[in-house]
Amino acid sequence: MKKYKIFSGTASQALAKKVAKDLDTELGRVEIIRFSDGECRVRVEEELGGKVIFIIQSLCPPVDENLVELCLLADTLNRNGAQRLVGIIPYLGYARQDKIHRKGECLSSQLIAKILEGVGFASILTFDVHSQRALGFFKIPAVNISAVPCFIPKLKGKAELMVVAPDKGAVGYAQNIAKELKAPCGYFEKDRDLITGKVKIKGVKGDVAGKEVVIIDDMIASGGTMVLISEFLARAKAKGILICATHPLLVKEASSLLQRGPVEQVMVTDTIPVPKEKEFKKLEVVSVSSLIAKAIEDNI
Ligand code: R5P
Repeated sequence: MKKYKIFSGTASQALAKKVAKDLDTELGRVEIIRFSDGECRVRVEEELGGKVIFIIQSLCPPVDENLVELCLLADTLNRNGAQRLVGIIPYLGYARQDKIHRKGECLSSQLIAKILEGVGFASILTFDVHSQRALGFFKIPAVNISAVPCFIPKLKGKAELMVVAPDKGAVGYAQNIAKELKAPCGYFEKDRDLITGKVKIKGVKGDVAGKEVVIIDDMIASGGTMVLISEFLARAKAKGILICATHPLLVKEASSLLQRGPVEQVMVTDTIPVPKEKEFKKLEVVSVSSLIAKAIEDNI
């Protein structure tokens, strides 16, 4: 008999099933329905018997619905006898809103931390959080796991490899991969207009000509950053261009932009499920399930 149980929200079903399989267990039974007005109702369908409870749920689109569902799950699992509640949030939404950029804005990632603490999580785990500041708002333990080990086997052995970060913020992340691959690391200088979201590339630090360049980032949202950077790299005579990004938000036209662009391959993880209509030929999804399984074993 395991001392823990894993539950999943609707945002992370496929990943949670993989994790349960890796750990030779089954997901806890829970009913999650929506009323006609969109309200969510959650009911746990089994005895928890004082076990440690892990809930896997990404805060990916529809972000706010998934957040409320996660809160309702946490509340009902706590009320029904969880000994300790651990939130596994593979993609922590709202982590980009970790600062007040303009007067009058909400400090959203701090509020999300307060909400998750308030619904009774004892700790949370997430992958490649956009900003460490967002985790600093939690008063409970909040741990960031790197998805780098999932990408390494796919990149090892490639000749003339170079790793680049799309901006200074992603340099630490890129350096982790570069170190593992014993490859040089560069970074782009870019500006983003906070109102329109438009990105402008100013230049790259590092010699990319003739290199097999891997662009590393935490996420692909509209794909705009990746497309601009890969076009820049193609003009700068990079030999090949690959993308590794942990969270495939793939909003708007991201999939078709990336398929049409000069990139050879786009590697992402399953922290966010990619629906059929967003799949494209150059896309490869690697799983973080074994990393979650290990984190669960380390947390009981
Ligand atoms: C920015 O700081 C992030 O790390 C990503 O580079 C960005 O959010 C990607 O957004 P998009 O795909 O819309 O350019």
